Amino acid sequence: MDPEVNRFILMNEGKGFPPGYPQSMVYILGKSNIASVNGDAHKIMRGAFLSLVSPPIIRHQILPKTDAFMRTHLTNWTHQTIDIQQKTKEMAFLSSLNQIAGIGSSPLSKEFMAEFMKLARKKIVRMLEELIEDRRKSQEIHEDMLYSLMNGVDNRYKLSDEEIIDQIITILYSGFETVSTTSMMAIKYLHDHPRILEEFRVILETSRLATIVNGVLRKTTKEMELEGQLIMDKPLETENYFFVFGGGTRRCPGKELGIAEISTFLHYFVTRYRWEEVGGDEITKFPRVEAPNGLQIKVSPYRHCY
Ligand code: HEM
Repeated sequence: MDPEVNRFILMNEGKGFPPGYPQSMVYILGKSNIASVNGDAHKIMRGAFLSLVSPPIIRHQILPKTDAFMRTHLTNWTHQTIDIQQKTKEMAFLSSLNQIAGIGSSPLSKEFMAEFMKLARKKIVRMLEELIEDRRKSQEIHEDMLYSLMNGVDNRYKLSDEEIIDQIITILYSGFETVSTTSMMAIKYLHDHPRILEEFRVILETSRLATIVNGVLRKTTKEMELEGQLIMDKPLETENYFFVFGGGTRRCPGKELGIAEISTFLHYFVTRYRWEEVGGDEITKFPRVEAPNGLQIKVSPYRHCY
């Protein structure tokens, strides 16, 4: 679709372009999930989300946590063949759980992951209810998203337990495929084009080449109308068509967190390991970017390269 039409739609949610995700998504993410609510309810859920990822929180809480998590998570990957698709999925899920409730690597996190992969909402809700109950009983202070959501860091966005649970499930799902697939594709592109690594532009290249929110961008040279409205009144050159993170009131609020996770993961991966693909490198792009049979790579220590 023409980029101007995309831009127009994204910027004009209030004029009749609300999100149109399928009902099945509500069954999994809950009725209060940010993508299913509109107007004031959306402002509250979005405000609550943004208060969890403000620049000071990213700097003082999220970055150190992500760094510590990736350092540990990316150990002992050498001298074996691994499916990097599976590994990046585990990384994205566990890193997210670590930010949410400080349980990135524990038996409980494995249990969460198993239920998450099965899309078992009821079980996940029950586990989160127990977590909330335990937190209330203990009264301990935690530096994580659950603590902030329960204790209303910003009083304008105080959520009920039900809303907190839907918010957490939404954070887990929205950061899962986006972060894992971008990380896997970055590794694929680095393997195929090692110079990209030297140019230190991995994230942007991956977003450009493997836009996981599918869409086709095309330039037009003449003005056009959408539902009777003229939408192209400025020269194309002055516009920004980079919609990887969406736009308007729904613009991805997890962008910085996602980039922090992907870059930290890649940092440790490329500085610790070298790798080669060992077959099974088929990648499909639609309806989602994925390696249908996994992406098998043989990993060795980086320092043996030289
Ligand atoms: C490479 C990483 C990511 C990409 C490419 C991406 C992309 C997007 C896009 C295109 C949208 C707009 C959807 C729409 O307009 O309907 C969006 C929304 C959203 N993203 Fe992300 N995302 C990424 C990472 C994350 C992460 C890590 C999180 C959570 C921590 C997250 C949470 C969300 C949420 C909650 C929304 C809905 C916002 C709203 O409806 O107001 N995203 N994302």
